[in-house]
Amino acid sequence: MSEIDSGEILEDIEQIISSEILLDEKLEQICIYLKENVPHYDWVGFYLVEEENDEELVLGPFAGEPTEHTHIGFGEGICGQAADREENFVVQDVSKEDNYLSCSVDVKSEIVVPIFKDEKVVGEIDIDSHEIEPFTEKDEELLERIAEMAAEIL
Ligand code: SME
Repeated sequence: MSEIDSGEILEDIEQIISSEILLDEKLEQICIYLKENVPHYDWVGFYLVEEENDEELVLGPFAGEPTEHTHIGFGEGICGQAADREENFVVQDVSKEDNYLSCSVDVKSEIVVPIFKDEKVVGEIDIDSHEIEPFTEKDEELLERIAEMAAEIL
């Protein structure tokens, strides 16, 4: 497990958020940045709730291998359960989670942090790791801050 320097990461993410690029480019830059700078983040993506279908998550910008799970209903998999429960979902070992949508056999753990706007889930940050039990409270704190920052531009 590696230490996270949340202060520096948040400063860099703030720069991406305030830069003069399109929304999707900002979200993609955030994914690329996190994947490159946090060693235990092997896939980083945003799932967004489409206004016309508020019980479904649609894959937005991401960094890492393409996934077949581009549309996920609330309640389905780790992403759908986090959206349904409106809370973070940390799975330290995906082999122990029955309601799980596998993207790759290399993925060993996953963390999902919802993005709220007006107390409603409008999307989430999803991270897959190739390590077992890599996540600590620091990951949750960092990703909750990034989710708040993303909510301001969504
Ligand atoms: N594993 C997720 C599906 C999305 S991928 O991780 C990119 C899940 O169980 O919801």
